[in-house]
Amino acid sequence: MGIMPIVKFPDQVLSTPTKIVGAINQEIKKIIEDMLETMYKAPGIGLAANQVGFAYRIAVIDVEHSDKKEKNPIILINPRITSKEGELFEDEGCLSLPGVSEKVKRFKRVTVTFTDLNGALKTLVGEDLLARAIQHECDHLDGRLYIDRLSSLKREFVKKRYLKADEESNE
Ligand code: NI
Repeated sequence: MGIMPIVKFPDQVLSTPTKIVGAINQEIKKIIEDMLETMYKAPGIGLAANQVGFAYRIAVIDVEHSDKKEKNPIILINPRITSKEGELFEDEGCLSLPGVSEKVKRFKRVTVTFTDLNGALKTLVGEDLLARAIQHECDHLDGRLYIDRLSSLKREFVKKRYLKADEESNE
């Protein structure tokens, strides 16, 4: 498969909560490999499995990658945010809503528990950009987009801007 097409809003798969991953078999490993390739190619700092049409609770994140640096992805299988504190209000975008962004309220620091590629239960603490990426991707896996965290007025505004940009790109 390699690089996969990214599902765009308002596709239903983006608003459907994903399923828990059971065994981490070859199929799951291959999907993770393809998700990483797709994220780096986009380029993006995070990608949820349902954004490539695979409705399982898997996300990949790499907030540090640039051409100069070694790739150091975080692979989150069945992630759950277990604690959160502080507050951030920063601009956020999404590969499923290209061309628009908006300020979103997030926690400044989160703890996430997840299963790694070897099936081990892990805990990670993220701050600032990493904390935002973890919250954004966990939201995806719960069937929620960042625009769902905006006031209804702002949400309609962003949706309109996005649909207009999308229309123009298809002309
Ligand atoms: Ni996103």
